[in-house]
Order: sequence, then structure tokens, then C-alpha cells
Amino acid sequence: MQLFDVYPINDITIEKAAGSNVWDDKGNQYLDLYGGHAVISIGHTHPHYVKRLTDQLQKVGFYSNSIKIPLQQELAAKLGKISGKEDYQLFLCNSGAEANENALKLASFHNGKKKIIAFKKSFHGRTSLAVAATDNPKIVAPVNETDNVVFLPWQDEAALEAAFKQYEVSSVIIEGIQGVGGIQVASASFLQKIRSLCDAHNAVFIADSVQCGYGRSGKFYSHDFAGVNADIYTMAKGMGNGFPIGGIIIAPHIQASYGLLGTTFGGNHLACAAALAVLEVIEQDNLVENAAKVGGYLIEQLKTFPQVKEVRGRGLMIGIELPEELNHVRKELLFKHRIFTGEAKPNVIRLLPSLALTMEHADQFLTAFKQEVGKN
Ligand SMILES: Cc1ncc(COP(=O)(O)O)c(C=O)c1O
Repeated sequence: MQLFDVYPINDITIEKAAGSNVWDDKGNQYLDLYGGHAVISIGHTHPHYVKRLTDQLQKVGFYSNSIKIPLQQELAAKLGKISGKEDYQLFLCNSGAEANENALKLASFHNGKKKIIAFKKSFHGRTSLAVAATDNPKIVAPVNETDNVVFLPWQDEAALEAAFKQYEVSSVIIEGIQGVGGIQVASASFLQKIRSLCDAHNAVFIADSVQCGYGRSGKFYSHDFAGVNADIYTMAKGMGNGFPIGGIIIAPHIQASYGLLGTTFGGNHLACAAALAVLEVIEQDNLVENAAKVGGYLIEQLKTFPQVKEVRGRGLMIGIELPEELNHVRKELLFKHRIFTGEAKPNVIRLLPSLALTMEHADQFLTAFKQEVGKN
């Protein structure tokens, strides 16, 4: 049997990983500033993570949500404490798309309305509602097309106000920092505007934190920079450091009832052990502060390169926009300097490393980057 060929891949096979490094099958070492797409939050094969997962696997790996799973409660308490949202409620699922799907659905259950406001260049996942709220017609199948989603220009307060006048809005979904959209940071005033309009119109503010959340921005949720709370935060990627787990946290005024949401795998023992290990390491090693420090340093240094068009982002979620003549740089970084980075079309290098990245790693990248862009 062949694989269904949907991924354009690099000709590299990774066999080993530790911290911010990975090694290929020929023994070559790489610096990982991509984190397998913002997933590796605490570093590859962190000893505490490996131990907690191994110990859990030897006890019980999986049982469904038909029995008590105290690890879920433990995870909710720890997540509430670290994120500063202790009065929220946690629902666990398995991926970012599923988290957004549940959030959009729950908003509609809650207020009985249908219209979703999303933004240009947004990415929210590939399940039916999540993809309908994603601004990329190429990945929306005819069956996913719906009139229930309205796309507004990014950060256009007047358009947002007009949409609230025109439609019965159920929810507004927004990434605190757009990832696929090229690392665009939502301003505090725009997020505050969403908050006040949602309050005035009984709509639900959904903070998609799948990529920008979990400490990556230098605050636990990047929307926190605006000083207002969303009603639902969605998360996945960094949550399990590679173990598939997603979740939504839900403000206290939104009520649960039996059967409203559900999943077979969500919140299983192994997934909770992975997520707990991640939060324990984030807390013990002050990784949110580290993301702010090392990310701040990288952003500051990158801004000194005259060849770079723009540097955007916060913490360890950084976009480096290059002019077209430098579109080879990302490949050179990978194949010559052995540094993994991400990209956003057309010409943005995306840095999404582990939150445990060190200053030495940052300097290693800056030296390689200087060699490549400096040539022009
Ligand atoms: C902001 C955002 N939301 C949702 C998703 C979908 O997550 P998943 O691929 O886990 O379904 C992604 C994935 O890249 C994302 O970046």
C-alpha cells in the first residue's frame, strides 16, 4: 500500500531527538527551530516527560470517559493555575481543529445563534466548521461551504462593528497571533473591541490559541496581552509536546449538560499524563519567561538586519519576512546549516522552537542567518 501523498516533504529522516536538537539517520545533528510545527513546547524527549508517560503506560494507558479519570481533574487544576484562568472549565479532545470545532459548536449551543465572524488569512483547522472558518478556499470542500461564516479584514474595527449590526453573531474566532497567515499580531485595541462587542451582543469570543498559546508568546495565552478575557480558549500543539491532545477552556457562564460535547479518545490517561508533564516542566523551568527572554532577544537582533523586510511576533513565535531575492535562505538554513525553521507563504520564515530554547541556540541561528542574508 502507498501513502496518500498530501505532504510535500524534505528528504530527511529523523531518528533521535533531545531538547532543541534532532539527529537524522546518518547521524547529522540539527537545531530545531520549527518544533514539528510549534508542537515541541518543553523540548524533545524531556526526561520528566518520558518518565511520566512511561510510568503511566505501565499503569493504564487508556480508558474512555465513562469512568472517573482523576488525572483530568489534576490537569484542569494545574492548567487553571498556570494560565491564571482558575474559574474556567476544561473539555479535552485530540487536536487543534477538534478544539475549534467544539468551541464554535458550543458557542452556538450557548446562544442559539449561527453566524461566525472569522478574519482574513485565518487558519483554524480542517474539520467542517473549523475549515469553513479558515480563509483558504483551496482546503474547503464543497460540502464544507456555508453561509454561516463571515470573513472580515484583519484589525478593521469599523468592519467588525458593521458586521455586528448586520448579523446575529454567535461567535468571533481569532488567533492572538496568526500563524499560517504569516505571524500577524492582533492588537490589544482590536481584541478589546471584540470583547466589548461580544458583551453587548451576547456573542462568544473564541481565542484560538492552538499555535500562539501555551506560553509561546511570553504569556500563557497571547490574547492576554490585551488585558481582556475570551469566553473560550482553544489549544492543542504545545499541550502534549507531541502526544496528541487538545482542549478548550470555557468561561463559567457557559454551562455544560450531559451529551453536549463528547469524544472517545479525549482526556485519556496517557494524554493527561503527557499534558501534566508539560505543565510541570513549564512551571519548574520558567519556560514562559524563557520564551519572552530568548524570543525578545531574537526579535531585537533580527530587527538589526537591513536585508529583512519585517520582523513580527512575540516571544518564540517569530516571523521574518524576506524580500523575494532571499527566498533561498530557508533551504540554506536547513541543508547547509542544519537548522529547521517553518515558513508562511509567500516569503516568511517562521520560528516556532521549544520554549526551552537557550541564548546559545539563538546565537547559533543568528550566525547562520547572518551568513546567508549577508551575502546579498
Ligand atoms: C491557529 C491554528 N488553529 C488550529 C490549527 C489546527 O490544529 P490541528 O492541526 O491540530 O488540527 C492550527 C494548525 O496549524 C493552527 O495553527
